[in-house]
Amino acid sequence: MAEEIEYWDFATQDELTEQLVGDIGFIIESALDARGQALLAFPGGSTPKPVFAGLAKANIRWKNVTIIPTDERLVPVDSPLSNIALIAKTFLPLGARVLPLNSEAENYTLAGSAANARLMDLHWPPDLVWLGMGKDGHTASIFPGPDMEGAIHADKGVRAVGVMPDPLPPEAPVARVTLTAEAIASARTTIIVGGGRDKKTVLDKAIEEGARSAFPIGRILDRIEIPVDIYWLDS
Ligand code: 6PG
Repeated sequence: MAEEIEYWDFATQDELTEQLVGDIGFIIESALDARGQALLAFPGGSTPKPVFAGLAKANIRWKNVTIIPTDERLVPVDSPLSNIALIAKTFLPLGARVLPLNSEAENYTLAGSAANARLMDLHWPPDLVWLGMGKDGHTASIFPGPDMEGAIHADKGVRAVGVMPDPLPPEAPVARVTLTAEAIASARTTIIVGGGRDKKTVLDKAIEEGARSAFPIGRILDRIEIPVDIYWLDS
């Protein structure tokens, strides 16, 4: 289990955004100073939107920063469901390199292999993996269900796999590719960002259950060895 898991609670979206923009900016600048480049994995969903907008306005050196999604829905990049679309729209104009993980592979398993191959070219590990979380305890695109173990116990060294959530999540009922537990756990920094009581109840239970948890987020936290900060919007 992550060495230390700490909640940072925020009363308003603006406060949460300001803190995250400052902290992510610091992670990027530190990575650039130490290694001349930064690799970030950003989630999909709705939570990141205001934070991306805040990051875009901040004074951050985006050149030599590579951004990948933690997971991608297997839809065309111009689909409103695409995770990379918002990332690309926000960060490409700032000079960052944005690497999509989707492909036109004919099935999601092959799409996973293609995403994995693309990630093999990167300077690993990520300086930051930012995880979102759903009410069902999924994180990245590791959902409770038949494909969960495959993403959590993928072969050693595999960074991405294809998954078909079952049941399909109503907000985006499509196959996905996702970082594996090993890839997530390899990050130099991991944060979780979310909000609301329902999700908090799930997250607390998942943390308590750890390796035994039926919630993917609990299983992932069990694999992470570094401290994890949770940024939470109380609402
Ligand atoms: C995805 C996401 C996913 C997301 C959560 C939370 O594409 O499904 O990457 O893991 O982070 O579902 O989504 P919200 O921020 O919309 O609640």
